[in-house]
Amino acid sequence: MSTQDHADVRVRAPGKVNLALTVGRRRPDGYHPLASVFQALSVHEEVSAWHADRLSLTVSGLHAERVPTDGTNLAWRAATALAAATGAEPAARLHIHKGVPVAGGMAGGSADAAATLLALDTLWGTGLSREALAEIGATLGSDVPFALLGQTAVGRGRGDLLTPALSRGEYHWALGLRDRGLSTPEVYAMFDEIVGGAGGEPEADRALMQALRTGDAEAVGRALVNDLQDAALELAPELAETLAVAQDAGALGVIVSGSGPTVAALTRSRQAAAAVAAAMTAAGVADAVLTAVGPVPGARVLQGSSRSGPARSLRGVD
Ligand code: C5P
Repeated sequence: MSTQDHADVRVRAPGKVNLALTVGRRRPDGYHPLASVFQALSVHEEVSAWHADRLSLTVSGLHAERVPTDGTNLAWRAATALAAATGAEPAARLHIHKGVPVAGGMAGGSADAAATLLALDTLWGTGLSREALAEIGATLGSDVPFALLGQTAVGRGRGDLLTPALSRGEYHWALGLRDRGLSTPEVYAMFDEIVGGAGGEPEADRALMQALRTGDAEAVGRALVNDLQDAALELAPELAETLAVAQDAGALGVIVSGSGPTVAALTRSRQAAAAVAAAMTAAGVADAVLTAVGPVPGARVLQGSSRSGPARSLRGVD
């Protein structure tokens, strides 16, 4: 039994892939308007929390050595933001067990923030609603609200304004990971350079939404699109080979996940996903591979006291 099994509260939150990511022209605030179709995947972050007299953070799991454990960590910032919003004392021992690639374009840091918000809301008994947690989450990062919501959703604004979307069936993925992560702001800056300030109003693709509603994996594969892909390929040209190998190994569609460098290949079945992952390994076009299924639920409490009383909104707390 690991120490995490003895936590006061344990929460799991998923990573994501963007089935479609269309990006508009950079706004005056530096962000880009998006239309993003998110699918939550079965690669998870787990956050354990214990009562303590001060805030502390440790990290284990995938790429743990690359994750800061100080105030720059998004989970730490989530803890102080929740404390500030509720008046709770910012004191807890936190442990993150990582399953989502670091700086991989799969929102692992956002999943840490989402899981921490839910874990500490439970530990501290602050009883915020999901909406209030998402509101705090959006101040920490654009993808945090989706890690709370999970399943399939369309994101507008900077990706934080979510509408749940209908989706039928299971989607099986092979993921090709790279040791060298990509910085999201750098990928967006490269996008600006490539499009030269152009860019229209981003729209969620009707064909994709229809394919999801009917559970047509082949049509979903054909509709995968990522406006950041050219920028990611410019910064990490080796990804072109990863995409090609996954496609040739029988994927229904291949895409760079979010700002990359993880390559996500949609396949017909669990076995096909394993075969595409094996092909990426054999060709030496990924430093590590994973398989995953989606959609899966958003952040949820696995262990620990559940809330008592009705959920409070942020306004109710003020
Ligand atoms: O919101 P988040 O902290 O994840 O964003 C990281 C960076 O990615 C931002 O500082 C910005 O440079 C870029 N970004 C953007 N447009 C978005 C989301 C992120 O330009 N919609």
